[in-house]
Order: sequence, then structure tokens, then C-alpha cells
Amino acid sequence: MAHAVQSHGIEMEFGSNGTRTKVLHGIDFTLDMGRLTMLVGPSGCGKTTLLSILSGTLRPTGGDVDVMGRRITAMADAEKVRFRRDRIGFIFQQYNLLPALTAAENAAMPLVAGGMSLGDGAGRARAVLETLGMGAHADKLPRQLSGGQQQRVAIARAIVHAPALIVCDEPTAALDAQSGRQVMDILKQVSADPGRAVLVVSHDNRIYHYADRIIAMEDGRIAGDSADDTLPEELHVH
Ligand SMILES: Nc1ncnc2c1ncn2[C@@H]1O[C@H](COP(=O)(O)OP(=O)(O)O)[C@@H](O)[C@H]1O
Ligand SMILES: [Mg+2]
Repeated sequence: MAHAVQSHGIEMEFGSNGTRTKVLHGIDFTLDMGRLTMLVGPSGCGKTTLLSILSGTLRPTGGDVDVMGRRITAMADAEKVRFRRDRIGFIFQQYNLLPALTAAENAAMPLVAGGMSLGDGAGRARAVLETLGMGAHADKLPRQLSGGQQQRVAIARAIVHAPALIVCDEPTAALDAQSGRQVMDILKQVSADPGRAVLVVSHDNRIYHYADRIIAMEDGRIAGDSADDTLPEELHVH
């Protein structure tokens, strides 16, 4: 089967002439469908930068990225925006819910962006919220929900349009242990779909055991990978 993501020699430099800093030094890896892959490493090592590049949010200064067989690093901006909207779901530490919209309306946003009416979208989103144990909260506003519940609305929003790739940046960082487990249980279920890959960036070692594969980063490089048995000993989970 094709890889969900394939990256070749990704490099990223920030800054202008004179003060350029290189934060990614030639990163190659592939992500497989039907699995939850975790990208771990200390704060500042480049995880968010790499995730942003793999999901087409940030253009690298070198290298190529293919998502579902499409070279996103070669796409023009308008095409890339459409591709991201249709094929990729995003989950962040901040839930980024719109305060004036209900849970179902918030979760419907990718459908609305794709042209569906808010009413139809909210109907579809309600069914997704039900599968996440959030059926009773579908008509509530974000401020009426706990952090863990808001993150589940954000998950519903990330999966409502059935994207092939779901990227999550520190999805449990703001949550207590129990809410964090609920969120990871859901992401684990979502990742089992053979037509989908889930990539979770984290430095929360409470959740490493959810991963089917762990890729370790350090100083802008891949420092180990459980898939080829090169993960540093301190990251082994039992
Ligand atoms: N827009 C930016 N401009 C300049 N430097 C940046 C920018 N984004 C990230 N960096 C730098 O790149 C490095 C990696 O950051 P980041 O990818 O956010 O790391 P992580 O997510 O692992 O904490 C850090 O040194 C950070 O300061
Ligand atoms: Mg980060």
C-alpha cells in the first residue's frame, strides 16, 4: 500500500540573511496507514516545525513531502489549501473552537468550508460527536464544556470530513490524566482505519504507550525510530 506520508531530505531555515538558523537538517521518513505514529523529543527540537511541513502549513526550505501520493511541496498555494481542507485533519493543544457556535456547529466547520450548509454539516457532526461519547453535549457552547470535552469536539472537527491524514500537536498537553487517556483512546481507534494515518507530536511520556511506532527527534534530526529498533533506551515503553 502507498505510504500516507513520505518525506525526503526536509530542511528548514528560519530568519533573514545574516541571522539564519537551521532547525531541520534533512529529514527522511515515511508514515504508514492504519497506525498511530508518535513524534517525540524535547521542547525546541523541531517537532511542530516538522508537523507543519508534513501537513502543508509551512513550506520547507529544502526537500519534498508526498501526502497520499501527492507532492504537496510542489503545489501552488490555492491547490494546497484545498488539499489540506479535504484530506488532512488538525488537532492542537489549544482547541480553537469558535465561542459563539455550538459543539456540533464547530465540529461541522470542515464540511462548511467544503461548501455544505451549517445545518447539514451540524447534523453530520452530531453523529460523529455521538461516536465520541459527546452526543449529550452537541448543542452546548464551548464555554459550557470541560477541557477534555472541548478537545473531543476538536477531534470531531478533525475527523468529520473523513480525512486520510490526521496530525495532532501536543493534543493532551492541557488535559488531566483521565481526559488525556480518553483523547488518546479515541485517536487510537481513529488510527485503526486502514485508509488513514494519525501522527501525534508529543513530549508527554504518559501517552507514549498508545503509539504503534515512535520516532524520536533531537536538535532537528531523527534520533531513533522504533520501526528499525533504533529508539533510545529511555523511550522504550513496556
Ligand atoms: N517562525 C519561526 N521563526 C524562527 N524560529 C522558529 C520559528 N518557528 C520555530 N522556530 C525555532 O525552531 C526551533 C524548533 O521549534 P519547534 O518546531 O516549535 O520545536 P518543538 O515543537 O519541538 O518544541 C526552535 O528553536 C524555535 O525557536
Ligand atoms: Mg511544538
